[in-house]
Amino acid sequence: MIPGARLIILGRQGAGKGTQCVRLSRHFVVPHISTGDMLRAAVREGSELGRMAKQVMDAGGLVGDDIMVGIVEDRLNRDDARTRGYILDGFPRTVPQARALDGITSERPIDCVIDLDVPRDLVLARISSRRVCRDCGTNYVSTHGLEKHPWICEVCGGDVMQRDDDTPDAINRRLDLYEEQTSPLIEYYGSDGRLVVVDGVATPDEVFVRLTAAVEAARRPG
Ligand code: AP5
Ligand code: MG
Repeated sequence: MIPGARLIILGRQGAGKGTQCVRLSRHFVVPHISTGDMLRAAVREGSELGRMAKQVMDAGGLVGDDIMVGIVEDRLNRDDARTRGYILDGFPRTVPQARALDGITSERPIDCVIDLDVPRDLVLARISSRRVCRDCGTNYVSTHGLEKHPWICEVCGGDVMQRDDDTPDAINRRLDLYEEQTSPLIEYYGSDGRLVVVDGVATPDEVFVRLTAAVEAARRPG
């Protein structure tokens, strides 16, 4: 039986969290819980949450902590996450979210927190080339005009487009907010030994090998 996992993946916007979490979720057979994907699904559904979140996301801001904690708590209480575990992508993103998560997971603590480390200049280049399937969220890299139009997703046949928050202004705001609000989590999880830093500057295959090795090492007794 493949062991499950309870993981948090931190990292700047564009570090490759979503790309790697899809692979890690298959590897450990646990749900990939991306708060960004959950909010984008709410936007597509046109729910009240989605209408509020769209304005905040398109401006590169952060949705309120109470709302995000409630969404994640509900998701972690579902059977798959309770029994197998989960990979959290994009949560927590502030110290209050991390404190709330420690309370939610007190009975079944996380295995480790990984900081997928990629410098700001490189993530800017990755985000500006990113294209995403509007329906299933698969990531693609734009070859700047050489791709086919319309661009159809190879996985589900949906439209491949640029994300609404991948505009230069929103990208810069998101990266500034990362430094202000999210980077303190490196200290938060580092101070009690839960943090592992993984260098995310390599091919997606190489980064995946580094991540699985880091999780196995963190779980090894002693
Ligand atoms: P979210 O969807 O989480 O976006 P983000 O944080 O901006 O992160 P990204 O998805 O941009 O980056 P990623 O690390 O997943 O990179 P990816 O794998 O795509 O959140 C969106 C918004 O929702 C937030 O701004 C906020 O408003 C709101 N929100 C979400 N959670 C919240 C919370 N907890 N609290 C409050 N608000 C919240 O990779 C990027 C590109 O690089 C891709 O094109 C990919 O193909 C490419 N790539 C990946 N790996 C490599 C590699 N190794 N080499 C070369 N290219 C690579
Ligand atoms: Mg992502």
